[in-house]
Amino acid sequence: RQNERESLLIILEYAKEYFKKQLYDTDEGKSIALPYFKERGFSDATLQSFDLGYSPEAWDAFLKAALKQGFTQEIIEKAGLVTQKNDDGKVYDRFRNRVIFPIHNVSGKIIAFGARILRNDAKNQAKYLNSPETEVYHKSATLYGISQAKNEIRAKDVCYLVEGYTDVISLHQAGIKNVVASSGTSLTIEQIKLIGRFTQHVTVLYDGDSAGIKAALRGMDLILEEGLQVNLVVFPEGNDPDSFVRKIGSEAFIDYIKKEAKDVISFQANLFKEEAGDDPFKKAEMIKEMVQSISKIPDAIQRSLFLQKTATMMRMDEDVLLAELNKIQLKKM
Ligand code: CTP
Ligand code: MN
Ligand code: MN
Ligand code: MN
Ligand code: MN
Repeated sequence: RQNERESLLIILEYAKEYFKKQLYDTDEGKSIALPYFKERGFSDATLQSFDLGYSPEAWDAFLKAALKQGFTQEIIEKAGLVTQKNDDGKVYDRFRNRVIFPIHNVSGKIIAFGARILRNDAKNQAKYLNSPETEVYHKSATLYGISQAKNEIRAKDVCYLVEGYTDVISLHQAGIKNVVASSGTSLTIEQIKLIGRFTQHVTVLYDGDSAGIKAALRGMDLILEEGLQVNLVVFPEGNDPDSFVRKIGSEAFIDYIKKEAKDVISFQANLFKEEAGDDPFKKAEMIKEMVQSISKIPDAIQRSLFLQKTATMMRMDEDVLLAELNKIQLKKM
């Protein structure tokens, strides 16, 4: 087991170097992939600090190179670097004709890859492909960027949580380095515990679309449940942190975050004002959701303060809210 982990880390490191070589030292990399990164505004230093690379348009270029290097087909398969196309048992490179985002664990070792198509209009192809679960890669326990961000998270005593690889990278380049990505999956308890090793404060910066907001609300309840403090920033419709920081620059971006960050109750109260108007049925439903969120908070004093806040913001009798909260707490026992 231990030996297999070691072997996997070695081949993943080799693969990272291979993909970098394809980016910098081949005509294909230089003419297709480097310009792609440049168009996205990534500097050379940024490409280096995230170990970005390129996988060429070929069926088995990596497989051949790795075999030639002495890696066994078994370990190449176990690392998730090849995939089976038909049931003839033949395997092919998993990542072909894509830019490569290596995924580092908390101590900086490569454990997996994300890979993006170069053209958004490529048909029948997922925008991102990711490594499968392996002995060293557990998606649900991984945060993209944690190794580059951990010191700054501790120093700033707050972690910005974004959705995507490029959000992490762009913010980093803009000088905002205390940032990690959940990488599109819904946030997990293991990911929150990982953040909790470095800070108790999370600010969620998800995409400004309805999917992003829904995911953010779900994530916030989970963060509260873990006893961490959480705020949320919503970006103007159609923006994500990457596009927004490139549009307005890092200073304005930081101002925006400071101005727009809302706790779970203020955020929901605002959202609900827009959605419910003065329909009492809808309003009741929304207040119940807010009390649900409050019930996740393990600390009794915080719970009580949020309850007061809800009462004020929603113009409700606090005793009624408290009764509702107690009802939820009882059900949990
Ligand atoms: N993702 C994924 N598979 C997909 C789409 C998304 O794994 N088919 C993950 C990736 O980690 C991605 C994140 O979800 O970074 C957020 O998705 P999205 O907002 O669609 O992508 P962006 O990160 O904004 O990527 P880009 O700017 O390159 O379009
Ligand atoms: Mn603190
Ligand atoms: Mn999105
Ligand atoms: Mn994006
Ligand atoms: Mn996005």
